[in-house]
Amino acid sequence: MGLVKMKDILAKAEEGNYGVGAFSIANMEMVLGAIKAAEELKSPLILQIAEVRLNHSPLHMIGPLMVEAAKNAAVPVAVHFDHGMTVEKIKQALEVGFSSVMYDGSHHELEKNIQNTKEIVSLAKQYGATVEAEIGRVGGSEDGSEDIEILLTSTEEAKRFADETKVDALAIAIGNAHGMYKGDPNLRLDRLHEINEQVDIPLVLHGGSGISPEDFQKSIGSGIRKINVATSTFNRVIDNVNKAVQLKPYSDYFDYHQDVIQAAYENVTYHMNIFGSSNRV
Ligand code: 13P
Repeated sequence: MGLVKMKDILAKAEEGNYGVGAFSIANMEMVLGAIKAAEELKSPLILQIAEVRLNHSPLHMIGPLMVEAAKNAAVPVAVHFDHGMTVEKIKQALEVGFSSVMYDGSHHELEKNIQNTKEIVSLAKQYGATVEAEIGRVGGSEDGSEDIEILLTSTEEAKRFADETKVDALAIAIGNAHGMYKGDPNLRLDRLHEINEQVDIPLVLHGGSGISPEDFQKSIGSGIRKINVATSTFNRVIDNVNKAVQLKPYSDYFDYHQDVIQAAYENVTYHMNIFGSSNRV
């Protein structure tokens, strides 16, 4: 099935009323683990990397790897550029073959966010790629470098933003935050429900790490179709590796390599089972 447009994956999720995980990866091992989980569960998959992570995994190297992995997968895989901040990097991702990009203008005023997003929509159109954007502001920060305050998405603004920009998917802020939550997440499902009534395109929930299975399922029931998961995969890798070292220090590099694949596989499997995307392809 291979590389597909994120828009198509999300349209099917809408029809079937399930969610699709967008899993952030940092290296080949995590890509292998995520694809193994998707193939075993017969689930669609969104593989993603955020612009702030490119200092660790340069786009000209990790990008082609993600695209090739998707092309060779036995299930539909969209390759998505998460939290694009600059036209330069978004364009580079499109050139490399990403089938989807996010422009994050959530730190701008509404008018500026609309204007910039429209420019990305027309750029992505030339590549036939899907576009996600954000309205309101998700808390925390992608790489943990800032503690951004949550700005709840206004229903009216979400509607206007979707109508004017013609994006394919909309990330909203309903109490969700990047990184691990300080207390229990308090998702405003009432607001999500309201936005879903007014906005026709698939809605995206960022900050998936630490949300309970019940809240995931309620969110999916109210229109969330794409769910971003990053920190819990990275944490699972370090937890598993730390545990393995405590039991017995590695003597063979490839045992370690295999444990990284396995950790990503386990976290992706866990989430796909909750999101209801198994056996959908
Ligand atoms: P977490 O790191 O909280 O899972 O958030 C992921 C995310 O939203 C990526 O954009």
